[in-house]
Order: sequence, then structure tokens, then C-alpha cells
Amino acid sequence: MGLKKNPSNMSQKIFIKTFGCQMNEYDSNRIFDSVKKIGFKKTINYEDANCYLLNTCHIRDKAKEKVYHEIGRVKKIFRSKKKPLVIVAGCVAQAENYEMLNREPYIDLIIGPQSYHKINDKILEHINKKQRVEETQFDPASKFSYFNKIKNNSGKVSSFLTIQEGCDKFCHFCVVPYTRGPEYSRPFCQIIDEAKYLIDNGTKEIILLGQNVNAYNNENYKLSNLILEIEKLSGIERIRYTTSHPRDMTEDLIDVYRHSKKLMPLIHLPVQSGSNKILNRMNRKHTIEEYLEIFDKLKGINTNIEFSSDFIIGYPGEEEEDFKDTFNLISRIKFINSYSFIFSPRPGTKAADLKLIDKKVSMERLEKLQNQLFENQLMKNKSLEEKTLNVLVENLTEDNKQVFGRSEHMTSVIFNGNQSDVGKIMPIKIKTSNRSTLFGEKIVNSNKKVA
Ligand code: SAM
Ligand code: SF4
Ligand code: F3S
Repeated sequence: MGLKKNPSNMSQKIFIKTFGCQMNEYDSNRIFDSVKKIGFKKTINYEDANCYLLNTCHIRDKAKEKVYHEIGRVKKIFRSKKKPLVIVAGCVAQAENYEMLNREPYIDLIIGPQSYHKINDKILEHINKKQRVEETQFDPASKFSYFNKIKNNSGKVSSFLTIQEGCDKFCHFCVVPYTRGPEYSRPFCQIIDEAKYLIDNGTKEIILLGQNVNAYNNENYKLSNLILEIEKLSGIERIRYTTSHPRDMTEDLIDVYRHSKKLMPLIHLPVQSGSNKILNRMNRKHTIEEYLEIFDKLKGINTNIEFSSDFIIGYPGEEEEDFKDTFNLISRIKFINSYSFIFSPRPGTKAADLKLIDKKVSMERLEKLQNQLFENQLMKNKSLEEKTLNVLVENLTEDNKQVFGRSEHMTSVIFNGNQSDVGKIMPIKIKTSNRSTLFGEKIVNSNKKVA
């Protein structure tokens, strides 16, 4: 095997490939913060690695098969070299655990999302005992207490910060309650400590994460309290949170939009379907009228607040009328960004065995919905041309010739900046646009009011 016996004394190289949501991205960074302590360095060239970690997602499609396919690729790459230590982490690891270890002998270690605090010990256990290891216990309290001691070295202008994990809502289509476990909210003080550390190390924007981020509740501290506390920290410029559930858009959280100076005016609020019949069958626990009520309340506070969403098309039982309801919803709410997918049956969930609707019909509906969503986005971006927006600059573009940043509504903006602009909020005049990106120019010495 390619890994040396006592990694703490030497430089090992880990390659981490991440699939799935922002929480997996956050986890991959934290896993690296941990394995650094036993001598690992990160490599972006997987052929150099002596440890290959796959952080997996189970949300849709043939998630499990994708992992085996990926392992097959690694096997080929390392055919004439020493075998790397192969770790499968994330939601597929949690769902498949021993089965995966049994089916694919090339995997050395399986570790689930609530066990990452044990990753160093498990790697060393594998090396010392020459055993293949499986660790998939749910222990989020110990995990976060461990990671609280080793610092979050994101080092980015915009950093993720997980505040909540797991889910108790059990939508009938979703694996998350099974792969991430029951809802857990991190202690308030831990989050503030991590936020301070991030800000001290250059972070200007914090994106609070959770599978149900607005269900955050730790000893009666809620997401609204967290936002108001984080915005008091000196150096923080922007706060966002994702992903929220309509049921947890409580009055106190809505009210924060009246008072907060740092909370950005974009809400990712997945609706899944515009039909009450389908929402009920999905076990979403809210109606479309309740969703619209939240929308109206927030727009009533600030018309500049925009929405983005997730849609599932072709859920079992979806008829033309139901699809029309979804289509009508996107004419009423002009979501500025959305994710839409065809329903994918997930093993172990309530909807797994329901009768699927015709694939061709689902595909046609998805295409129709996406065309309209894209058209709305295009129009929105066009309407911003010749306007001046506040842009938080995150980094240089790949060719180092321009800079990349984001507007208050999270839209990508590219303009003629340089390294010294990184980390600043700058007024940028938008000149052209496409569906996903705005292209602008720096404003020199302008006192103009920005949009
Ligand atoms: N907690 C969030 C909520 O309730 O809206 C969603 C989190 S889930 C990780 C992200 C998105 O994946 C969902 O909003 C849904 O649109 C999509 N998704 C989940 N299960 C799916 C499935 N079985 N088929 C297709 N899309 C799915
Ligand atoms: Fe999945 Fe529903 Fe929980 Fe969101 S609320 S994570 S969609 S079960
Ligand atoms: Fe995927 Fe797990 Fe996130 S299933 S979407 S990585 S919570």
C-alpha cells in the first residue's frame, strides 16, 4: 500500500473529490483540517496522491454506482503504482456502509458524515492493524466539539459555516434523514467562535449551512439570534444561510430582514412543487398558500428581496394540472436561480416504491420548466445592465486577468479588477450579461447610489 506507516512524521498527500451539496464541501475542508494533524498535505493532482478520499452524495440518480465507477477509475490510474489509501465518506458511505466494503475490496475505509471526528484514528487503525474499517455512527455533538478545537482554515473571502445537521421532516422522496441522521443544532458559542476565527483570517461573508438551517435551535437560540450576533462581529460584511424549509420561516426570522444590515436579500427557499396535492404526497408539511404568504411578507419588508428554489418534476402522481400549478408559480415568483430535477426514487424512502410517471412526460415537463426558469434569469440579468451593483470580490479569474465576485443576490460578476480588490465590496457598473453571469466595470470615484 502507498501509505507510509507513521504518517505524523512525514508528508502524505491526500486528494479529496467532493460531490453533492455545500455541506459536503464544508465537510471536505474540515476533514482536511483534521488529517493535516497526522501529516497529510492536500494535492490537486490525484495521480500524486497516496490517499484518495471520495466525499459522496446520495440525493439522486445512481449515486452508489457512481462511487464504484469512480473507484474503478482510481484502480486503473494506480494499476502500475502502489495502491493509495482509499476512503469513501459522505452520504453514500452512510447509506451503504458494510455492503460497500464487502462489494469493493479496493476500499479501505468507510466513514459516515457524523463520524468525521474519528477520521484520524480510523486511518491510523487501518494502517496499524491492516484492517479495513467502517465507521458510521451518528454522533454530531462529539464531531462538532472535536472540530471546534481544530480551526476552520477556509481562508476564503466567502466561507461556509455549518450550524445545523440532519433532518426530522422525512419528506417522502428524501434520503437526508437517513444519511445525516436526526436534526442537531451546534452550540451557539461554538458557532460564534468559528465565525470569529474565519473573520480574523480574511472571511468577509459567512454562509450558514444546514440541511434545515432555519430549524436551528440550541437552548432556544434560533437562526435569527445567530444572524444578529454574527453581524456584530467586526469585519463581517455579509451573511447568508441555506437551505431553509418553508415551515421554519418563523416570524422572528422574517423580522430580521427589517433590522439586519448584513443579511443578504436572497432567500433559497425550496418549494419542490406548485401543487398542494403533490406537496401533500411529498409530506412537505406546508401548502402553496403558506409559501406565498412567506413570499408576500418578505417582499412587504423589502421589495429588493429575491428568491431561489428547488423543484422536483415528475413526482409519482403528478398530473398535467399539477405541473401547470408549478409552472404558474414560476410566473408569479420570478425565482432568480433554481435547481430542478426529475424525481429519483431513493432506496429506503417512502416514495421509493411508488409508481413512476412516464419518463418522456417528466422530461418534457422538466424541459418546459427549465426553459422558463432560464428565460426569467436571463431577463433579470438583462435588467441589471447599466446598473451599478455592490460586488464582494472573491478571487482572480482563472486566467488571472479579471476578478470574480458576487452581487448581493449571489449572482456571479466578472470585471476588470486585480488582486488588491480581493476581499473588498466595490460598486461595479454592469455592461453585459448572460443567464448566469454579469460582466461589469469598476466605477472610479463614484458617489452614485447603488442598486
Ligand atoms: N432541506 C431542503 C428542503 O427541504 O428544501 C432540501 C435539501 S435536499 C439536500 C436538496 C434538494 O434535492 C431538494 O430540495 C430536492 O429538490 C432535491 N431532492 C431530494 N431528493 C430528491 C429525489 N429523490 N429526487 C429528485 N430530487 C431530490
Ligand atoms: Fe430532505 Fe425534506 Fe429534510 Fe429537506 S426537509 S432535508 S427535502 S427530508
Ligand atoms: Fe447529498 Fe448528503 Fe448533501 S445526500 S445533497 S451530500 S446532505
